[in-house]
Amino acid sequence: MLKTLKTLKTPIMLAAVFSASALFSGCTKKTDDQSGTAQVAAVKSEPSGAQASEIVIGEYGSFTGNEATFGQSTDKGLKMAIDETNKAGGIKGKQIKLIALDDQGKAEEAAAVVTRLITQNKVVALIGEVASSRTLAAAPIAQEHKIPMISPSSTNPKVTEIGDNIFRVCFIDPFQGTVMAKFAFEHLKVKKVAILRDVKSDYSVGLADYFIKKFKELGGEVVADESYQGGEMDFKPQLTKLKSKTPEAIFIPGYYTEVGLIARQARALNISAPLLGGDGWDSSKLFEIGGKDINGSYFSNHFTTESTDPAVVDFLKRYKEKYNGETADGLAALGYDAGKILIAAIERAGEAKPELIRAEIAKTKDFVGVTGKISIDSQRNATKPAMVVKVDGNVNRYVTTITP
Ligand code: PHE
Repeated sequence: MLKTLKTLKTPIMLAAVFSASALFSGCTKKTDDQSGTAQVAAVKSEPSGAQASEIVIGEYGSFTGNEATFGQSTDKGLKMAIDETNKAGGIKGKQIKLIALDDQGKAEEAAAVVTRLITQNKVVALIGEVASSRTLAAAPIAQEHKIPMISPSSTNPKVTEIGDNIFRVCFIDPFQGTVMAKFAFEHLKVKKVAILRDVKSDYSVGLADYFIKKFKELGGEVVADESYQGGEMDFKPQLTKLKSKTPEAIFIPGYYTEVGLIARQARALNISAPLLGGDGWDSSKLFEIGGKDINGSYFSNHFTTESTDPAVVDFLKRYKEKYNGETADGLAALGYDAGKILIAAIERAGEAKPELIRAEIAKTKDFVGVTGKISIDSQRNATKPAMVVKVDGNVNRYVTTITP
């Protein structure tokens, strides 16, 4: 199925002033609830004996480092959801307070900041991470402390298998791999592909495998399967090997920084085969790094800025107003949806207790988000369609939608 949608104006990419500092207020008060969980909520100038006036939510993400736009965009979307709720009076009169900590794009740091959010800041729920490897490092800690966690965008299947407190609001990689294999085989009519995967990333390794499985099932051939490690900058040895196998397309399930460099080096080596990827390409920096060499490449994603759905158009408009004309990417949209789903769950729970919130997140059904309709299934995943987009400068042109 191929749909053409009306295009939007070229986005104005302004450097947003971003602060990932933890937001502590002056004093805190401890209250023990019946389950024995100590909860800390900030107290402003309340008369003595008043209940805690805030609900404390934690967020962890890559606000700096190699994948900084992932954390920054997610944070902007999440803050937008929280600000909207707080402006409208909060949750049953209580304001939501977000404590956002930077994990610098490192798995060990993700585990450390999540421990801090739970044990020191006493958050009642967590949002994060984007990258599967970092969510996988932090989720066991949330599970152990029974603090519900929603990953907006980690697509590796293992994430939610960690336990009953771990949720996500996006599709998973067996589906995403299928989408791109079908797109390559049926839409681009490619029969021979090469793979270039990041062996340090659970996401990349898994997605490469799911793509290969489907592509072979369809009758295609994988002529090369090369690897790199996230953070590397020279991909010429791998690309030279790939080139000798004359693939008709190259599938690179990595993150934008390396993908941008790979595109430049591939074209410099006169490799003209189209480059294909997954959601990890979604960043305003992809074109900045890859330049014209990344143009014409395709990737699967959760969101398109070219949607004509009034709710999405309105979201993009409000986001632009809030963030100096910036265009929301898929992560901003997923951060927003994850925040809205968590807020709705806390509202239904009636009380900001982790166990009650966990039970309500699990009941999420037909939630109309800006990334599609979201129902949390028994495995705590969301089944949603994926969109394929084509890189065209700073805009990712919508190509088609593939449903599960
Ligand atoms: N799906 C990627 C992962 O699991 C993360 C990602 C999602 C990156 C969406 C960009 C956009 O690691």
